[in-house]
Amino acid sequence: MPGGLGSNLAFVFDIDGVLIRGEHEIPSARPALELLNEHKIPFILLTNGGGVKEKERVEKISKIIGFPLSPLQIVQSHTPMKALAHKHAYDRVLVVGGPGDKARHCALGYGFHDVIMPIDIVKATPAVSPHHRFTKSDFENYAADIDLAKPIEAILVFNDPRDMTTDVQIVSDLLNSDHGVIGTKRSIKKLKHREDPAIPIIFSNNDFLWANDYPLPRFGQGAFRIVIENLYREVNQLKDTELLHSVIMGKPFKIQYDFAHHVLIDWRKKLLANDTASETQILPNLNEQPRNSPFEKIYMVGDNPASDIKGANDNGWESILLRTGVYNNEDLDTLVAKPTVGVYNDVFESVEAVLKSHNII
Ligand code: G3P
Ligand code: MG
Repeated sequence: MPGGLGSNLAFVFDIDGVLIRGEHEIPSARPALELLNEHKIPFILLTNGGGVKEKERVEKISKIIGFPLSPLQIVQSHTPMKALAHKHAYDRVLVVGGPGDKARHCALGYGFHDVIMPIDIVKATPAVSPHHRFTKSDFENYAADIDLAKPIEAILVFNDPRDMTTDVQIVSDLLNSDHGVIGTKRSIKKLKHREDPAIPIIFSNNDFLWANDYPLPRFGQGAFRIVIENLYREVNQLKDTELLHSVIMGKPFKIQYDFAHHVLIDWRKKLLANDTASETQILPNLNEQPRNSPFEKIYMVGDNPASDIKGANDNGWESILLRTGVYNNEDLDTLVAKPTVGVYNDVFESVEAVLKSHNII
């Protein structure tokens, strides 16, 4: 029986440039997802976006495209950091990026118990960022009172900065601090490995560009990382061959595709058990590829060759590139990764083509 949960097909959709552009739906998004639902073919969303809780993100996407999605059907760039929280890897963490202090609440929801944000540090000592953009109501609504003397053990970049000046300054201060204490500076003379920052920094994605509703792609978190790396190089007088040691998650990296594969298997189980109302998402170990996956083919549909397509290809999935986002009809031979299935005008056209190729429609 082609199609249906019995089939061993599944889809994974990117969000920005595939389902939405900024706050606007891409019209072919809903019919594409309805077609998969009609044929009971499981799918999830895998985005390098983030900065808010998964539940809030799917509620927003569902509203924009007019199609109900479950919080279990999404993996954001920082979702795998749940596993870090569960390991109690860090005491106090600085979370960076996203609107207001939503990223703080997301990190607390993951299980991190002492989460501060740059706005807390600016509230405590405004001179740390002389040109910050925070308003009186920002401080009232989003800032927490903190003891500055307590060391910060890691920096977790959840999403694109909203106040680049402040985030660049405070992140750089901490990478060059004395063991994560704000207001201190380590001496580089004594350092054996200058590429090692005072405290670890984890970037949740590597996107240099992404597609919103502006005609041209916009700088993403990857651009922020490049700024941080180059300032760090200057402060620590690194050689050309040396680079700030950091961890980068998100697409195209294996950690994200393994995590998403587990989430996809779990979602299929919940569909099979008619248990889609559940809100508990599986928490796989990081960097652990699922064994005995029920899927013969997983189709990744994306607009960004460097993240969506490269990641799918590197992880043995099928890849589909769309013309509704970052990709702008460049010659395929110039791309960092070529789609295995092909290039399509929009998401519905691509889903329809795959279902036809499997004689499902
Ligand atoms: O900040 C989000 C952006 O980097 C890309 O999101 O959904 O296209 O992976 P997405
Ligand atoms: Mg995209």
